[in-house]
Amino acid sequence: EVKPLSSQVVVLGGEVLDSPGIIRKALTEEKRVSTKTSAADLVTETDHLVEDLIISELRERFPSHRFIAEEAAASGAKCVLTHNPTWIIDPIDGTCNFVHRFPTVAVSIGFAVRQELEFGVIYHCTEERLYTGRRGRGAFCNGQRLRVSGETDLSKALVLTEIGPKRDPATLKLFLSNMERLLHAKAHGVRVIGSSTLALCHLASGAADAYYQFGLHCWDLAAATVIIREAGGIVIDTSGGPLDLMACRVVAASTREMAMLIAQALQTINYGRDDEK
Ligand code: IPD
Repeated sequence: EVKPLSSQVVVLGGEVLDSPGIIRKALTEEKRVSTKTSAADLVTETDHLVEDLIISELRERFPSHRFIAEEAAASGAKCVLTHNPTWIIDPIDGTCNFVHRFPTVAVSIGFAVRQELEFGVIYHCTEERLYTGRRGRGAFCNGQRLRVSGETDLSKALVLTEIGPKRDPATLKLFLSNMERLLHAKAHGVRVIGSSTLALCHLASGAADAYYQFGLHCWDLAAATVIIREAGGIVIDTSGGPLDLMACRVVAASTREMAMLIAQALQTINYGRDDEK
């Protein structure tokens, strides 16, 4: 039973918990799991609970602001980024990890005004690391300044990606062939950790040199984009053009040279747009 104590904190199983606390507690417990767009696109009651808590807290403080949130979108809410102040929320990024008790899960909250990303926070729930970025004011992890690696050479790069939810044979073939192209270009490695926001935080921290993906969403990208840019990195569309937050695809890298090398190597996997679903 979940009893609200305030808009941020609930009593759950006799314990007083905030959102990361709820996620940490639920990580090792039995979960009710449902699927969304594919058999690999998962959601649990904890995703819904955390999203509801975050939105109710923010709505109480900022009644005129708008929200784009993963589970509301899955239930049919439109994802349209207007000029109004908008919070862009992923309550649990890495839900598949969460379901399997694999401890790489995060809460991600980005904020945009006039369609410009202003700040982002990403919280690594099990390692208790808070990544923050504010436009023009830098990016930090638990108060320590973040800097990207500055690597320009793909043959010296550690590259991160995520698989995305589609698993039909044509999509998988393109996914694997994109990975193969980067390995042929002699990237040191390609890693998949199961959370696009935390992978993007590794890039911002200089622990990886690039990230690309088809099939992620605006709530996976909003907060991380500010953090990477403020850490000195680049976030662009897979075409090599400017980032389109709603286009479900991205290349992010420590330098523009690296981002362009990756964009040129990739074949497009079409996931449609968040604002056309
Ligand atoms: C997903 C994860 C996954 C990535 C998907 C994301 P979710 O977010 O980051 O690794 O492949 O594209 O949407 O569903 O766990 O919030």
